[in-house]
Amino acid sequence: MQLLSVSDLLTKDIKFPEVEIKGWVRTFRANRFIALNDGSTINNIQCVVDFENTDEALLKRITTGASVHIKGELVESQGKGQNVEILVKYINILGDSDPDQYPIQPKKHSFEFLREHAHLRTRTNTFSAVMRLRSSLSFAIHKYFNDHGFYYMHTPIITGSDAEGAGEMFKVTKIDAKNPPLKDNGAVDYSQDFFGKETNLTVSGQLEAETYAMALGKVYTFGPTFRAENSNTSRHLSEFWMIEPEVAFMDLPSNMDLAEDFMKYVLSYILENNRDDLSYLEQRLLKEEKSKPQAERSDMSLIEKLNFVIENNFKRVSYTEAIEILRNSKPNKKKKFKFPINEWGIDLQSEHERFLVEKHFKCPVILFDYPANIKAFYMRLNDDGKTVRAMDILFPGIGEIVGGSQREERLDVLKEKMAALDIPEEELWWYLDLRKYGTAVHSGFGLGFERLVMFVTGMSNIRDVIPYPRTPQNAEF
Ligand code: 4AD
Ligand code: MG
Repeated sequence: MQLLSVSDLLTKDIKFPEVEIKGWVRTFRANRFIALNDGSTINNIQCVVDFENTDEALLKRITTGASVHIKGELVESQGKGQNVEILVKYINILGDSDPDQYPIQPKKHSFEFLREHAHLRTRTNTFSAVMRLRSSLSFAIHKYFNDHGFYYMHTPIITGSDAEGAGEMFKVTKIDAKNPPLKDNGAVDYSQDFFGKETNLTVSGQLEAETYAMALGKVYTFGPTFRAENSNTSRHLSEFWMIEPEVAFMDLPSNMDLAEDFMKYVLSYILENNRDDLSYLEQRLLKEEKSKPQAERSDMSLIEKLNFVIENNFKRVSYTEAIEILRNSKPNKKKKFKFPINEWGIDLQSEHERFLVEKHFKCPVILFDYPANIKAFYMRLNDDGKTVRAMDILFPGIGEIVGGSQREERLDVLKEKMAALDIPEEELWWYLDLRKYGTAVHSGFGLGFERLVMFVTGMSNIRDVIPYPRTPQNAEF
């Protein structure tokens, strides 16, 4: 007898009748039908217990959440809803689960409740589907880059530079907060700290990835990044994963081509390989949408939305054009925006991004050539002297999903920009070296992994697409 997964039992044409399986009881109906799940698929296998010949004490222990070992005969199912089922010949309870205490009852739980039980929520259909998709997406990402000649690079998580300017950082220190070593001027003396200098958790692997792109040509990182901003929104985490490709000799238009091709590939991969989980989440979303007012409902199903992105070109629009569209838009004229659009140069808020994507263009949008002073120092300055070669990709329902740029490859221009922002050259001497020795046009971008998982799964809160979310005031588990 061979131990098989539920997925194997349901999808492979298994010839031998005797099978063996281990999993968790989802439900036990009429003292007879166990719906068994082992995580390998969204689907359960039905195991039919011969209750007349089974000890009553044992029957009582078959409860939701219990882990069991079953041996039996795989047969064509008599009932509806499944092709095969197991006639149980042997059942052993591996781990009991007290039905009066087990939090994950076979009924609908709110996502808030499940977040508080994040260690058990992956035993529900929704969360197991989301997490299998998350795993599959990360495989598809590695596969895309591997198939396209990129090298996977591990950028450091503890960083000695905080010049990226992407946001507030978490300090990494061994200094005793009660008794820190002080300098003459009273400031904490970090030269006595573990690394002999101030260190932080990284906000992005980009700057280090650039150094490798300028040696290996095409690289990418895919790792955790940290931001200590106090943003309590459904799209922000304090710890999130980011995919950052970086390519030598590549300009901004090619960077857009890469991002678009890459995103379409990973979505296609999921449509081809994760149909069961997607279909389940699509149904879940349909039910959720029904409870919303008509005006807020999406006119596309989850799978239609993924296909729509794959089949349509991302609309490329300059910041300047976008400002014109927004300035003349109905919500702006009717003063419906919280941040009205009056002049060129302001940073776009998510209400503006969503208007462009969801109301105006109704497709993914790549905004480019932003004003220099709202973007990072390393972005390449355009000949107009006031815009930079930046790009943000905006997705329906998500807003910004990708941020990237062509990098400033000219030493003198980069130094000027750093000076203007008071970024000390000593701190980024190695970054400047790239512009001194064999500099070249190069570009890259960062894709927020959880925002991609949100888009693919239709989940509306970023806390529900990462196993253990870290957000302000929350680091349980
Ligand atoms: O736009 P960002 O800040 O860009 C960078 O960090 C660049 N260094 C990337 C690069 O060019 N290599 O972040 C990139 C993406 C955003 O578009 C968003 O999807 C995601 O990372 N992101 C977050 N996701 C979850 N929680 C947060 N707090 C996030 N901040 C950014
Ligand atoms: Mg950004």
